[in-house]
Amino acid sequence: MDRLNSSPRLMLVSDLDHTMVDHHDPENSSLLRFNALWEAHYRQDSLLVFSTGRSPTLYNQLRKEKPMITPDIAIMSVGTEITYGKSMVPDDGWVQFLNQKWDKDIVIEETSKFPELKPQAETEQRPHKVSFYVQKDKAQSVTQALSKVLEGRGLNVKIIYSGGIDLDVLPNGAGKGQALAYLLKKFETEGKPPLNTLACGDSGNDAELFSIPGVYGVMVSNAQEELLQWHSENAKDNPNILHASERCASGIIQAIGHFNLGLNLSPRDVSDIGREDSSPSLEIVNFALLLEKWRRAEIENTELFIAGLKATALPSGTYIHPSGSVYNIKEYMNIFGKVYGDKKGKQFRTWVDDVLATQLAPGTWLMKFNKWELCGEERKGCAVTSILSKKDSDWYTLVHLHQTWLEHSGQGEWLV
Ligand code: GLC
Ligand code: MG
Repeated sequence: MDRLNSSPRLMLVSDLDHTMVDHHDPENSSLLRFNALWEAHYRQDSLLVFSTGRSPTLYNQLRKEKPMITPDIAIMSVGTEITYGKSMVPDDGWVQFLNQKWDKDIVIEETSKFPELKPQAETEQRPHKVSFYVQKDKAQSVTQALSKVLEGRGLNVKIIYSGGIDLDVLPNGAGKGQALAYLLKKFETEGKPPLNTLACGDSGNDAELFSIPGVYGVMVSNAQEELLQWHSENAKDNPNILHASERCASGIIQAIGHFNLGLNLSPRDVSDIGREDSSPSLEIVNFALLLEKWRRAEIENTELFIAGLKATALPSGTYIHPSGSVYNIKEYMNIFGKVYGDKKGKQFRTWVDDVLATQLAPGTWLMKFNKWELCGEERKGCAVTSILSKKDSDWYTLVHLHQTWLEHSGQGEWLV
């Protein structure tokens, strides 16, 4: 987390399935709204944390399936695994802490005596997490009996029921809430406690997140029965927990506004893209959005659009296409005259990830980010380096643009 050398303005900790990711929305509209908001207004000085029940295997699978941005920290396997950054460096201190009063073999031995417990897939059995499926009507009695047995064998465990089907057995010190508390303590020790923290969830394993002192919480509108029940029994009068009226990531955006945690207007919700007060990051997000709308024919086809694009490019600027071909940026922009509406009626979406602005000199920024395109099932991405400048004008000028294919990305056609 060395990217930030002072306290993050907002630490946003979100569950993934049915919270950040809406599995009932094939268009991914709320997720894409969130992505644009985060990259334009929060990425530079805030921290994004994903906290999921998924193992690293299923987490990485979800990242391939859905248009997700990259978190600063990933908490996986119900708070039993913490990793940092893009390269997912594990937190070994956390692993050591979880080894206390935990013996996975004993858990497996004892749980196998309960016929009601159906083991989950092998990928979801982790060093500090043993997981099953159990019918709703059996969940309570099994939980009670099992915790008695394991206590009798000297283990200190936590049993969590989520989504009306999943039962996880973890070390007692684990869980999403404990993992968050551990991170908060770590940041405190480093002298960088977040100014605000917002936890977002929808199911049983998220309840702990809302119990951490000083944390705002949002239960998305589509929250599961077991979480709502936990809330009515334990936190009904806590004004810092909101049950949103909007689903999934839209509920998160709603909560940012409700608790006054910062700007909550996604660039995707702004129809008229103004140039005033724009930051370099917002500029990058808006540029990608504008090109998406142009290709989906969602904005008017005018000569003015191309002229406007060309006006933002430095006459002598260079564009290095991922194929390696080199163009003059201004001349290259003419290509947009030919592709208007080429993605009309298709599920074509673009999003930018991990936008990082570094000021090189007054009015000049080096921008680094990844840009993705999704068209139906097909997904392509480029790593982008560009230089933006804003000197005597109200708008930003594109000085230089260099793109290279992202690893594992299908190559082929790519405009910009
Ligand atoms: C995810 C995990 C599963 C776990 C569930 C609830 O679905 O894959 O193992 O039981 O979350 O925590
Ligand atoms: Mg969930």
